[in-house]
Amino acid sequence: MLTQLLPSNVATAEATADPADVFLFPEEESLIRNAVAKRRLEFGTVRWCARRAMGALGVAPAPVLPGRRGVPQWAPSVVGSMTHCAGFRGVALARTRDFLAVGIDAEPNAPLAAGVLESIALPQELRRTRELAWSAPEIAWDRLLFSIKESVYKTWFPLTGQELDFTDALVSVDAAQETFHARLIPGPEGLSPAGPTVFSGRWSARDGVLLSAIAVPARRPAPAPVHSDAPRLSGAGSMG
Ligand SMILES: CC(C)(COP(=O)(O)OP(=O)(O)OC[C@H]1O[C@@H](n2cnc3c(N)ncnc32)[C@H](O)[C@@H]1OP(=O)(O)O)[C@@H](O)C(=O)NCCC(=O)NCCS
Repeated sequence: MLTQLLPSNVATAEATADPADVFLFPEEESLIRNAVAKRRLEFGTVRWCARRAMGALGVAPAPVLPGRRGVPQWAPSVVGSMTHCAGFRGVALARTRDFLAVGIDAEPNAPLAAGVLESIALPQELRRTRELAWSAPEIAWDRLLFSIKESVYKTWFPLTGQELDFTDALVSVDAAQETFHARLIPGPEGLSPAGPTVFSGRWSARDGVLLSAIAVPARRPAPAPVHSDAPRLSGAGSMG
C-alpha cells in the first residue's frame, strides 16, 4: 500500500501480520527486553520491514535505534520513517541525494475518541472534516487528519529537532485525488529554517487502515549562472 503513496525511488516495506522469529540486533533486543508483548511485536516487525527496505535500497542491514525524542537513526546516506498500528507495520526509506525527509503514518480507520478532533484541528479543518464525514462516512476523516499531522511531524522533527503542536499545521485534504497539502503556521518562536514549511503527500484508506505519506525532494543545487562571455549553445543565423 505504501508504494502507491510514494515516489518509486523511495523503498518501502510493510507487513499486516507479525512474522515468527524476527531477528533483532542485540542493541535492539536490549531496548525491548522488558516490553509488553504488543510492543515487542510492533518493534520487531517494523524493524524486519526496515531491513527489507534497506535491502531494496542497497544499504547494509543495521540496527534501527531511537535517537532524541524517539527519532529512528539511519545510516548517514539514508532518510526514513516507520509506523505501526493494529494490523499494519510499515517503513519508507530513501537516499539523502534524492530526498530531504520522509514521513509516514498508519492509523486504524476508526473515529478518534470524543473531543480529540477539537483539540488537534484548526477551525477550517474542523469544518472540512465534518463535511467529509457527512459525504463519505466510510472513512474516519478525523483520524486521517490526525495521521497526516503525525506524518508532517515525522517529516519535520528529524530535520529540525523542533516540536510542533497539532495546531501548528494547516492541512487540506483532497478527497477525490487522495492527496493532501499541509502548511506550517509560525508560532511566536518561529519555525526552524532547516525544514520545509509546506508539505504535499498522498493518503489511502484500504482494508481498515488509513495511511499518509510525505516525501520531500532533496534541494537541488541552483544552476550555475550563465556569464555573458560563456559560449552560446545556439546562435542566431546559424541555420546552415
Ligand atoms: C512520535 C509520534 C509522531 C509517533 O506517532 P504514533 O502514531 O504514536 O506511532 P507510529 O507507530 O505511527 O510511529 C512510531 C514510530 O515513529 C518513529 N518516531 C518516534 N519518534 C519520532 C520523532 N520524534 N520523529 C520522527 N519519527 C519518530 C519511531 O520509528 C517509532 O517507531 P519505534 O518506536 O518502533 O522506533 C507521536 O507519538 C507523537 O509524539 N506525536 C506528537 C507530535 C505531533 O505529531 N504533532 C503534530 C504536529 S502537526
